[in-house]
Amino acid sequence: MEVIIKPDIDAASNEAARIFAAQLKRKPTSVLGLATGATPLGLYHILTTMYARSEIDFSLVTTFNLDEYVSLSASHPQSYASYMRENLFAKINVALENIHIPDGTARDIPAICTAYEETIDRAGGIDLQLLGLGSDCHIGFNEPGSSLTSRTRIKSLNEQTVKDNERYFEGAGPIPRHVITMGIGTIMEARHCLIIASGQHKARAVAAMVEGPVTADAPASMLQMHQHCTLIIDEPAAAQLKRLDYYRWVYENKPAWQKV
Ligand code: F6R
Repeated sequence: MEVIIKPDIDAASNEAARIFAAQLKRKPTSVLGLATGATPLGLYHILTTMYARSEIDFSLVTTFNLDEYVSLSASHPQSYASYMRENLFAKINVALENIHIPDGTARDIPAICTAYEETIDRAGGIDLQLLGLGSDCHIGFNEPGSSLTSRTRIKSLNEQTVKDNERYFEGAGPIPRHVITMGIGTIMEARHCLIIASGQHKARAVAAMVEGPVTADAPASMLQMHQHCTLIIDEPAAAQLKRLDYYRWVYENKPAWQKV
């Protein structure tokens, strides 16, 4: 796993935007895996600004979101479909028919989960998968204890995640306890994973992900086994890493041919 340490979330978002822009330039028909939450907001803002300046083009891009709350319709203000519309899709030229987000209101959830996996396969697989990190070390909504080879399916959120996400639901009813999420096996098949983490409250999860044992207890640790994973963190999120100086040295001395 390549570890990139930036002073703050703005610098981390800029670095992530650079990687997205390079991906789109290399392959305009890229299949992007996308995340929601607080962490990617800066990145999405930069991408929409770059699009407005005609620096990047999404017209041939296909997207797959990691997850959605069970029972929330796409028009519910707290759904991840609404989040994506507000923060990215309404501001870029991605084709509506190329956007994929699990349907939280589906009657037959196992069937739409299987169909989601098949649609990813038909699109040729995910080129660049954006991830955030839960403070309990989840990726997608694969909570601790999730199978490390899991596929898209329904999951129950644990107490920590419910607590972390409750702030978004103020006055909008109770937070759903169930989600549909890509599995860890699904995420592992992406050709490049890009994970961003920011803030001191993520430091423990970052250390478990990067330097802890690979275990279902810390689902993000599975990314240690990924063929091409880039982690971008800010200084507070890096605080508990043991090999901090080494990661900095590697990044600063990266050979030119390896630079994105
Ligand atoms: C969201 C997702 C989650 C979040 C994670 C971090 O689509 O899959 O794994 O990335 O919970 O959330 P924030 O960024 O709000 O700290």
